[in-house]
Amino acid sequence: MQALLENLRSVVEDLNCEIADGPIFPKVTPEEIREHLHRYDFSQPVALDELCSDVARMMQTWHVQVTHPRYFGLFNPSVTFASVVADTMVAMYNPQLATWRTSPAANEIEHHTLAWLGCKFGFPHNTFSSFTTGGAEANLTAVIVALTRKFPEYGEAGLRHLDATPAIYVTAEANHSFNKIAHMTGLGRQALRVVGTDSDLRMDVAGLARQVAEDRKNGFLPVMVVGTAGTTAAGVIDPLPDLASFCRSENLWFHADAAWGGAAIISPRLKAHLRGIEDADSITCDAHKWFSVPMGAGMFFCRHPEAVAASFHAETEYMPLETPGSLPNQYATTAQWSRRFIGLKLFLSLAERGESGYVEMIEHQAQLGDLLRECLRRTGWRIVNSTPLPVVWFTRDGLDPAKFVAVLQERQIAWMSAVQLRGTPALRACITSFRTTEADIESVVREMSRLL
Ligand SMILES: Cc1ncc(COP(=O)(O)O)c(C=O)c1O
Repeated sequence: MQALLENLRSVVEDLNCEIADGPIFPKVTPEEIREHLHRYDFSQPVALDELCSDVARMMQTWHVQVTHPRYFGLFNPSVTFASVVADTMVAMYNPQLATWRTSPAANEIEHHTLAWLGCKFGFPHNTFSSFTTGGAEANLTAVIVALTRKFPEYGEAGLRHLDATPAIYVTAEANHSFNKIAHMTGLGRQALRVVGTDSDLRMDVAGLARQVAEDRKNGFLPVMVVGTAGTTAAGVIDPLPDLASFCRSENLWFHADAAWGGAAIISPRLKAHLRGIEDADSITCDAHKWFSVPMGAGMFFCRHPEAVAASFHAETEYMPLETPGSLPNQYATTAQWSRRFIGLKLFLSLAERGESGYVEMIEHQAQLGDLLRECLRRTGWRIVNSTPLPVVWFTRDGLDPAKFVAVLQERQIAWMSAVQLRGTPALRACITSFRTTEADIESVVREMSRLL
C-alpha cells in the first residue's frame, strides 16, 4: 500500500498543478475526437502505458477541467487525495456489497459513515441510509418509498389501482430529476405540482397550502413535498421548518433535497441555515458534490426503515435473506442489485481529514462565496440571488451574459454560466473547489472588470 500511496500521490499532485496552470475550457469538435478514436478498432492489443498516456492526454485537453480552481460551474468538486485512493482500492478489491456476507467490512464501513452523517442531520438512530449513484437515484428512492408507505398496494398492484392520482409538490427551482422520476415511477410528469416562489425563489408555503387544498378538493392524492436545501441553479434554501410543519399537519411526506447544500450541516457557521431538515421524512445528500469525492456518490437517509424494506424487498433462491447482525442485505433495501463500494471514498476522506478538516474545507468555500459577492459589489456588479451558500448570481446594466461567458472561456479566465433570473440576464459562479483561493477570486473579478 505504501508504494501505491507514494506513486499515486506524486501523480495526482503533478496533475493538480498541471490542471491549475492549464486551460479550463477545451476547444474541440466531436469530429476531432471521433477521428482520433478511429485508431482503436480493437483488432490488435495495445500496450497499457501507451493507452493510458493517450487517454490522459484526451482527458487533459478535451474536457472542461472541473477540478480547476477557477472552475466556478455546477456542483462538480475538486476531489480529495484520500478519495482517489479509495476509488483505486475499490477497483482493486472489487467488493460486491449486495449482501452483507460477501462484503462484511465494506457494508459496515458504509453504515458507520452514513450513521455519522445521519446523526449530524438530527435523524434518529434507527434511520435507514444507503449510498446511491447520485442525487437523482436518492430522489427516486425517496419517491418510491413515499408512495409505498402511503399506498401499500402501489408495489404489487401498481398506480392504476389507486383511487385517485397522486401529486408531488416542488418549485420550478427543484432539481429536474423529479420530472424524470415522475415519468419513471409511472406517476407521470403531470403529477408534479410546481408551487410558486417568493422574491428570493423560496417555496411559497401559503401557495403550497392553496395548491394542496385545491388538489384534495379535485380528488387528487397529495403525497410528497420536496424542499430543496441549496437549489441547483441559485443555491436557494426553501423554508424547511415551515415545510416540515405543513407536511406534518397535512400528513404529507417531506423530502429534503440537500444534494449539494447538505454538507453545510457539519459546519457550525452554516448549519443553522438547514434548520428544519431534522424533521424531514427523507434526505438526499451527495458526497460527490460539496464533500469533494469523485462521482458517483449520493446518499439517501430515511426515518422509515420499514417503508424502505417494503419498497425494495426481494427474495430469490440464490441470494441469502438473513444477515448475522442488524444490517440488512442492500440488494433488498435499495434500487441497486450488484453494488459497488461507493462509501469508501467518503469514509477514507473524512477519516483522513477529520471532521475539523472537513469543516474548514466547507467554510473556506462559503467564505470565498462571500468574498466574491463583496468584490463584485465593489466593482459595480449587482448580486441578484440570495443564499448563504457559495453560489453567486450577478449582473450589471447592458450585460449580455452569453457573450460575456464566451469571452471568459475564450481567455481561460474562469468557467461560469449564463443564466436568467425572472427575465434578468445574469452570470452564475459557484465555488466548488477547495483549491480555489482568495487570489483566484480577486484576479477573476479584476479580469472581468477589464472586459467591460
Ligand atoms: C439539488 C439537486 N438535487 C439533485 C441533483 C441530482 O444529483 P446527481 O447529479 O448527483 O444525480 C442535483 C444535481 O446537481 C441537485 O443540484
